[in-house]
Amino acid sequence: MRPSIVIVYAIALAIVVGGEIRIRGKVRKRYSSHRRHRAVLPPCDFNETIINDEWSLMEAIGQSKFIFTGKVLNVKKFRSEDGSRKKSNLYTVYLRRLLKGDLSDLRTFVKLEGSQETLSGSTLLVERAGARDACAPAPRPRLSAIFLSDGAGALAGSARPPSPRLRILTDPVPLTLYHLDRVNAAVKDCKETIQILSFTQFK
Ligand SMILES: *[C@@H]1O[C@H](CO)[C@@H](O)[C@H](O)[C@H]1NC(C)=O
Repeated sequence: MRPSIVIVYAIALAIVVGGEIRIRGKVRKRYSSHRRHRAVLPPCDFNETIINDEWSLMEAIGQSKFIFTGKVLNVKKFRSEDGSRKKSNLYTVYLRRLLKGDLSDLRTFVKLEGSQETLSGSTLLVERAGARDACAPAPRPRLSAIFLSDGAGALAGSARPPSPRLRILTDPVPLTLYHLDRVNAAVKDCKETIQILSFTQFK
């Protein structure tokens, strides 16, 4: 082998190996800082009172214009722009199923539209006011929850144009069969109550 070819090989090898080591270093650094951050704050506990107390649940359902299930894609704390300097949790949610509310009304809050008919697979931004400082926002990304919203909205983010965000009334309810049963039953009871009330009114 000619010496010049050996030198070219040596240089090429040095570049490839050097690059690999540099990239690995960066990945490791990012990963460990992420883990450290998570380790400091335990996730906030979900307060089950809203589900277990009949009155609290009926009240929340009655006040909700939209109730839907979805998967959390991303959640971060941010300072509200309303001057109160309080923090909110801002969730990016992948919509699964609407349990209560009008699809065409909800469509105005959708950032990226999924299915035309059901809006399933759409993403939307959801704001929960009053983030707690002592714990990390829950549910974490990749977990599913039930969201109860009164339909009030605002514009969020520094992106131009800002995306509309939807206010929720309670912390996202972790999606379990029990929670879903309770919410579904309460939505049904609420509908029946309204029907009975309107029926007696027009008699
Ligand atoms: C849970 O919520 C109820 C009412 O919504 C409240 O009275 C209670 O103090 C809360 N519990 C905790 C541990 O925060």
